[in-house]
Amino acid sequence: MIARVLVVGAINVDLVVATERLPGPGETVVGPGVERHGGGKGANAAVAAARAGAEVRYCGAIGNDDTGAEALAELHAEGIDIADVAVLDGVATGTALIVVDAQGENQIAVGAGANAAVTPEVVRGAVARAAGWAGCLLVSTEIPADAVVAAIVAAAEHGICCVLNSAPVLAELAEVLPLGPIVTPNASELEDLHLLFGERGRRSVAEMATGMSTLTKAPVVVTLGGDGVFILEPGGRETRIPAGSVSQVRDTTGAGDTFNGVFAATLAGGASVLDASARGVAAASLSVAAVGARGGMPRGEHIDAALV
Ligand code: ATP
Ligand code: RIB
Repeated sequence: MIARVLVVGAINVDLVVATERLPGPGETVVGPGVERHGGGKGANAAVAAARAGAEVRYCGAIGNDDTGAEALAELHAEGIDIADVAVLDGVATGTALIVVDAQGENQIAVGAGANAAVTPEVVRGAVARAAGWAGCLLVSTEIPADAVVAAIVAAAEHGICCVLNSAPVLAELAEVLPLGPIVTPNASELEDLHLLFGERGRRSVAEMATGMSTLTKAPVVVTLGGDGVFILEPGGRETRIPAGSVSQVRDTTGAGDTFNGVFAATLAGGASVLDASARGVAAASLSVAAVGARGGMPRGEHIDAALV
């Protein structure tokens, strides 16, 4: 079965400063230089899926500027179909300001730019064109809430398996979670989702994931950084998959995107949620050993070698 994925989300250029430690509020820290990398949770995941071996279409928006042209050229060079990317006048391509510390931990502020102009109409059109082609739709939430909602609704209407990377959590997700996307929050996003439904009080990851899965009637996959992932399947089966061992964590930026892209690509190829999670974890753990959101994203053969 050929793995085919439609990715809907944000494209950014990442401006990255490496420092000894992350700045506190009001504090200035100085690093040796600035690096420029391709970024955005959607575009990163699209690259991860393509490197994992999937055919990938991308839906999003860039500004009509040099940065946007460069960002699109990078996606095209990865073999990604960019026909559903809108090029918009009068708005800049999204930009992320990133600080990475000596432990590979990061702090990110994003100027949404053109990503804030992705419309439900554009998304609906892309999903309709992908019907019968895509085995999976992956949507992340750095675009307007109505566009995210449109993607999830359209995936349900066209019978396309939908993976939702809820980073960040948007209040509007509450209305579409019952449509059954496979949600892939990290631990803090899982708490935000839990709060979204008015649930108070401390709960374990398993309890919160159970609450989510009861609502979506689908598996919930929680990424846990260096602890790998936790999967809760409808019916209550719990599975933990440990992260791969990494000799030196250089940069965790994009680790979640790598997980999501490879997870979606592997699901689209017909694998189970557990097998797709294992492949996503292996890929994401490989990715943190290199600098830049996409710098360490592995190719399919590299992922499969790490799995055996
Ligand atoms: P981000 O928002 O930074 O892209 P995230 O918070 O969505 O990431 P994480 O849960 O931090 O995602 O990490 C996703 C996956 O990346 C993990 O499940 C794991 O496979 C891998 N990973 C992250 N950090 C580490 C680490 N320190 N060592 C090994 N693997 C890691
Ligand atoms: O998940 C990492 C990404 O988040 C970065 O590439 C940055 O662009 C932000 O969107």
